[in-house]
Amino acid sequence: MAKNNTQTLRSDALALFGITGDLAYKMIIPALYALVKRGVLTLPIVGVALEPWSAAQLRARVKDSLQRSGWIDDTKALHKLFSLLTYVSGDYTHPETFTAIKKALGDAQRPAHYLAIPPFLFENVIQGLGSAGIAKGARVIVEKPFGRDLPTARELNRVAHAVFPEDSIFRIDHYLGKEAIMNILYFRFANSFLEPIWNRNYISSVQITLAEDFGVKTRGAFYDTVGCLRDVIQNHLFQIVALLAMEPPTRQDPDAVQTEKVKVFRAMRPLAPADVVRGQYTGYRNEPGVAKNSDVETFCALRLFIDSWRWEGVPWYLRSGKNLARSVNEVVVELKPPPQKLFDDSPSASGETNYLRFQLAPHSAIGLAARVKQKGKKFIGDQKELFLIEEEPGEQSPYERLLGDAIAGDRTLFTREDASEAAWAVVDPVLKKHPLSLPYRRGSWGPKEANALIAKDGSWHNPVLELKKNG
Ligand code: BG6
Repeated sequence: MAKNNTQTLRSDALALFGITGDLAYKMIIPALYALVKRGVLTLPIVGVALEPWSAAQLRARVKDSLQRSGWIDDTKALHKLFSLLTYVSGDYTHPETFTAIKKALGDAQRPAHYLAIPPFLFENVIQGLGSAGIAKGARVIVEKPFGRDLPTARELNRVAHAVFPEDSIFRIDHYLGKEAIMNILYFRFANSFLEPIWNRNYISSVQITLAEDFGVKTRGAFYDTVGCLRDVIQNHLFQIVALLAMEPPTRQDPDAVQTEKVKVFRAMRPLAPADVVRGQYTGYRNEPGVAKNSDVETFCALRLFIDSWRWEGVPWYLRSGKNLARSVNEVVVELKPPPQKLFDDSPSASGETNYLRFQLAPHSAIGLAARVKQKGKKFIGDQKELFLIEEEPGEQSPYERLLGDAIAGDRTLFTREDASEAAWAVVDPVLKKHPLSLPYRRGSWGPKEANALIAKDGSWHNPVLELKKNG
């Protein structure tokens, strides 16, 4: 995308808050290594955390993180990364920590501060950066969750804006860095055949599934304060909805895209309890860190409406959950049946109508289901899938791409303040008031009540992993 903004100067140093944490270990350190390996990251990196580690301990952790992701295939790049890295140990509530960071940043004029830390620490760190004078000319990269409801998101934005202007705040949603998700935007607006049918006249419903075949693993204590709606729906799935539902941006510019996404969030009808089914997998309450009487949802299905000219009356069904039958992320856009039932097997509204399917993970593929006549005299046929695209996974991981973009000042794949708040406004009513979580069996597709939610408009497509090629 064009970089039409004022913030396109490259950062000249990176301060990574939370370098000893889980996110840095699993995602950020491998991304830094990959950027160094490609020769695009040559700036000093100051790791910050509470642990009183030596440089040797930090290097051992970095090595361990890379070995875990199986990526030490370039020892020169590893040594380069080590040479860029220094470490500041300190408490985020102590001004001395920020004085030490300032010293470690040396003469950097435009540092990027990456907050890979629990959200309750954001405020301390942002204020610390401001007071130490290392926010000027800098940008701040913030991990989700950005708030836990509309009021806290607003408060967080207020705190951030006291120190950083909006165009220096980079809110990460790693889904936006995924190749298959970026392709939704491209596919929609680089082709002309889609637009005439991409509206309420031809589309009967849209459904999006983000299913995971594993539980909360070691994240029980965190997850039990969040739940599925906050963890992945308000952000990852809503971003996919926005890309599918938005109007074409007026130009190829990050702000033009954001503006169209905000319009989608603002047109979303705020959710009511009857639009939501919450579930919890059996045994969740015995997971480490989870309350014994927890009602937190590990599954959530919802029905959403976008009250706009294009989408009036089209239901959007979203669902996500842990410990479901398989790990898959897929969008199915169902088309209305032909107006005339010409053949004996012509689909009715509830039958096998045409659809467009975007599989986003584990494969990146787009399929178009169309009816084709069987051999013989009779005019009957089968639904076949025609593959429009099937791609290898992207060459860059989402974190590598997003970190590289933030350092370069490209805001295209980051969430703007108004988008984040508008998305919270949609889910806010059901964060306050919602039905109880219903139990579901591990390895199933969630509670059966989720089927009742969609029944009026069809049924959930439970995605198969092997993509059949018929076309
Ligand atoms: C994270 C959530 O944001 O996204 C996790 O906190 C979830 O709970 C993950 O598992 C899914 O991301 P991906 O890229 O593995 O689909």
